[in-house]
Amino acid sequence: IQPDANQMAQWAANYIAAKINNAKPTSEKPFVLGLPTGSSPLLTYKALIKLNREGVVSFENVVTFNMDEYIGLPKDHPQSYHTFMWDNFFGHIDIKKENVHILNGMAEDLEAECMAYEEAIKAAGGVELFLGGIGPDGHIAFNEPGSSLASRTRVKTLTTDTVIANSRFFDNDVNKVPKTALTVGVGTVLDAREVLILVNGHHKARALYQAVEGPVTQMWTISALQLHPKGIIVCDYDACSEL
Ligand code: GLP
Repeated sequence: IQPDANQMAQWAANYIAAKINNAKPTSEKPFVLGLPTGSSPLLTYKALIKLNREGVVSFENVVTFNMDEYIGLPKDHPQSYHTFMWDNFFGHIDIKKENVHILNGMAEDLEAECMAYEEAIKAAGGVELFLGGIGPDGHIAFNEPGSSLASRTRVKTLTTDTVIANSRFFDNDVNKVPKTALTVGVGTVLDAREVLILVNGHHKARALYQAVEGPVTQMWTISALQLHPKGIIVCDYDACSEL
């Protein structure tokens, strides 16, 4: 628990950098990092960029897998998660382009795309650390309430609440927000050797309460973290207001 989002980000960035450094990754044995989009990780990305510039951590031998992507948005769409990741993180660090994996929401065969993604994660040796955020309804990646806790990478229809929440990035126009997305499953996230979730703000307090004090339930998919041997939640005072 940290006082605010800035200190959360510093903590998380230091933690991730130390993990990468301790693993001493090489091109033969890279560090596999799972990554989210959204506003929650933004400050952590900024802090990691700074650590990268200062020479504290290198992403040269880091392979990444993003959690999700909207269906139907071209990669270069301003609100695609591809654009988000390159604008806010990848474009500012020493990562190799070929080491970045993001689901293709424009794939002709979406099911094949999802299966290939699971295979690629497996081939890379599995995710070492999955960084994530949650929605106010407790969803992780785009695993909306009701998602199976054993789910794998697949197509999901977004809930009305999520479409409304994300409309702030689409000129506040719900009609412009894609209604479906590709997402890793809850099971995919839980397979990571470690999961680190960032939760800040009053609007996430209910979800954090459900995540840590509620039962494990598919109605608050983040609650599945209780089943993980190494699940870490980094949160601020505001998010803890219902604990
Ligand atoms: C989207 C993303 C999630 C993210 C959530 C919360 O639904 N698919 O991965 O955790 O938004 O976003 P924010 O961090 O902006 O509150």
